[in-house]
Amino acid sequence: MAPYSPPSSGREGKLRLDFNENTLGCSPRVLAALIEKLSQEQLSIYPEYEATRRALSGFFQVPENRFAFTNGTDEAIQVLVHTYVGEGDEVLVLHPSYAMYRFYAEVAGARVRGIPYRSGDLSFPLEELIAGVTPATRAVLISNPNNPTGTAIGIGAVVRILEAAPAAAVLIDEAYYDFYGVTALGLIDRYPNLFVSRTFSKAHGLAALRAGVLFSREENVAYLRKSQSPYSVNTVAAIAVRAAVEDREYLENYVRQALEARTLLYEGFQRRGIRYWQSQGNFVLFEAGARSVEIRDALRARGVLVRDRSYELRGTVRVTAGTPEQVARFFAALDEVWP
Ligand SMILES: Cc1ncc(COP(=O)(O)O)c(C=O)c1O
Repeated sequence: MAPYSPPSSGREGKLRLDFNENTLGCSPRVLAALIEKLSQEQLSIYPEYEATRRALSGFFQVPENRFAFTNGTDEAIQVLVHTYVGEGDEVLVLHPSYAMYRFYAEVAGARVRGIPYRSGDLSFPLEELIAGVTPATRAVLISNPNNPTGTAIGIGAVVRILEAAPAAAVLIDEAYYDFYGVTALGLIDRYPNLFVSRTFSKAHGLAALRAGVLFSREENVAYLRKSQSPYSVNTVAAIAVRAAVEDREYLENYVRQALEARTLLYEGFQRRGIRYWQSQGNFVLFEAGARSVEIRDALRARGVLVRDRSYELRGTVRVTAGTPEQVARFFAALDEVWP
């Protein structure tokens, strides 16, 4: 296996447009709740999740027996793969997409097949994916919207995949749901092979704490929870998530700013004649040509972090849509380094 080592040091204090995090930070109510609730005793007790599970059930409007509370989406992927994929089984992923699908499938000893996004518009290769499903396919792992392309599929396409792969666990990873607004959660009643994940790392601004949720039918969730460590989410994260879901206003306000920033990124790229792809997430992929790594490094030297993606899509760089003011800072720095 190739190791997965994201470049993640020395980021604090810089304009972080490289990981699609919340660029303003989490709701202040989260910090207030942590200060109020954390104590020496609390930290000495193994985590208890009842109150958080009730809050999650209310927030997502899903009964408690239909989800697992996980240590980020990463643990959701890991638990799903552990539960349904054995050595030598086939797993379908798309390319390029979130690296951890392939990572956990390879750890499980699966045969991983990557279906490429369509060249040019980077649209979802629906017919190619459906044609790629075989009786040995045990899991299909999809990011919707997809990172890093930003492209997304609608519910009709999700249904076609679910129906084409009835013997596979189909994960729809909705890490960027808040910026897209289309969810497969409503299909869980009809499709026993559907799994949907959400995260608190992006719009909610809690990436440091590692919290996510994995939804499916109750019989599936019972299986998932058998292969999950009973204390995988720590108490600090559990308290933080409870406070985060109570502050919808903060979330909605941030999402509004990020969407405005995304439009400003489009306009700025257009004005400069830089090719970019329309995105349904809080990020935009653009073409920087042969100098993509050089441009990333020059931006970093000016305190602006972006993510080079040229190792999987030639000449591309991904920039997070934070706030309109941050977009202005990004373009000011880009104008100093652009060819
Ligand atoms: C598609 C997708 N899923 C999941 C994650 C990470 O989720 P978490 O922090 O919840 O593990 C990312 C982060 O980049 C992502 O792009």
